[in-house]
Amino acid sequence: MYGQEFADDPGPVYERLRRDHGAVAPVLLDPHVEASLVLSYEAALQLLRSPESFGKDPRRWKAVADGRIAPDNPVLPMMGYRPNALFTDGAEHARYRSAITDSLDRIDPNVLRGYVERSSDRLIDGFAPDGKVDLRREYALALPLLVFMEMFGCPPDTADKLVRGMSGIFDVVDAENANALLFEGMLELVALKRGTPGADVTSWLMAHPVGLSDEEMIHQLVLLMGAGTEPQQNLISNGLRLLLSDDRFAGSLSGGSMPIDDALDEVLWSDPPMANYGVHFPLRDIDLAGVRLREGEPVVVSFAAANNDPALAADHRIGNRAHLAWSAGPHTCPAKDAARLIAAVAIERLLDRLPDLELSVPAEQLRWRPGPFHRALAELPVVFPPVPAGPAAPPVPPAAPSGAVPASPRPVPPVPSPSEPQLGERTWPSSPAPTSSTRPEATSTARTPGSAPEGRRRWWSSLAVWRRGRSTTRP
Ligand code: HEM
Repeated sequence: MYGQEFADDPGPVYERLRRDHGAVAPVLLDPHVEASLVLSYEAALQLLRSPESFGKDPRRWKAVADGRIAPDNPVLPMMGYRPNALFTDGAEHARYRSAITDSLDRIDPNVLRGYVERSSDRLIDGFAPDGKVDLRREYALALPLLVFMEMFGCPPDTADKLVRGMSGIFDVVDAENANALLFEGMLELVALKRGTPGADVTSWLMAHPVGLSDEEMIHQLVLLMGAGTEPQQNLISNGLRLLLSDDRFAGSLSGGSMPIDDALDEVLWSDPPMANYGVHFPLRDIDLAGVRLREGEPVVVSFAAANNDPALAADHRIGNRAHLAWSAGPHTCPAKDAARLIAAVAIERLLDRLPDLELSVPAEQLRWRPGPFHRALAELPVVFPPVPAGPAAPPVPPAAPSGAVPASPRPVPPVPSPSEPQLGERTWPSSPAPTSSTRPEATSTARTPGSAPEGRRRWWSSLAVWRRGRSTTRP
């Protein structure tokens, strides 16, 4: 599961594993790392909902404890122990998890929408006059970090350290310095918020009744930023790819629904940003779907294969959110509403500003980044009629070379001044905040790059007009 062939087309690999082994198959995550991969939806749910039989704490991993896996193995950063919500069980997990969910629940979605819109505009202003851009590098990679810096109340100097630190961790050459920079930035942020709390996730985590120490704060912050960045980038890129290449998502406003939300549903089912993760360790030898799993050997859930399990009826995906892209059970993603809102607004803003956007290569020629866990494009090159930048556009932030976070010479744009809206104290709505997109007309007409369908132009352009009309009536 680590080669380019798997990255380019994982579907046939899942099919073959299912055919040869059934619900659970032996796989290699790396030439030296063996695991079991759960491919069936039912078995995945059974595992995720059985914390009494399957634990998350990787200190149970026998191959690591026995020294059979080298400490510098590249899968360890994603699978090795750290004292945070993702890698703990029971009471310890409940303590971290309650601080995280309660803090994320205090975010006002309307304020978050404002952060995403402003961050999107800064990035779009940077490339709008060029008429072409790699949207993955210049948009999807940078946007989540810009938004997170605002969510976590990071002042510009600290944000710069965190962005450079997180970027460098994925740039192997610079990993040691990057780690130091990230740690320094986190310490600064925690010290700042201890002295001057604000209306931001960092301050809310700190003030939570479970009483996190500075060290615990840093571990949860690294988890939040790390867990959020890569899948968020992939959801934006994969959603844009689908909207730009699949004629089911072209059409007019007259259908009266939401093509961007529909595209996100489709991506979360067919190309979930974390394709294979939810790593668990059996607490004793145990059977799952008739397969014997050994105590202390890693079991990985294929969210991608489970979502596309032939045992599921495949024709009710749009509007159906029973997919496993956010996982399930006690470790299900605590940020799904925020993550969905960030992706929807980022895509909506881009299509609003550049309605004539088109892929510059056929979708099937786009390259994917290898790796067993993610479903991540390596590039998303597009062309569009050049548009002058908006007034007083601030500089745009870094763009990453290949990893999950931006890293280019461009400076990080300023974070909002205290007079700008803060995250607020509201709770999430039970369903995601509305986006302003609408259902497309279905079309079966095939299209080549460079010829955006009229239908697609129509709803994207109409979206711009509708948004402008709506914004004048807002309080
Ligand atoms: C499209 C975006 C996202 C996707 C697809 C996604 C998906 C997931 C999945 C599958 C898990 C379970 C992992 C496991 O069990 O090993 C998870 C956990 C988690 N996610 Fe997300 N996530 C996204 C965005 C975010 C964001 C934006 C944040 C934070 C701001 C976040 C924070 C977390 C945390 C803290 C956990 C661990 C929860 C626990 O173990 O109790 N995620 N996410």
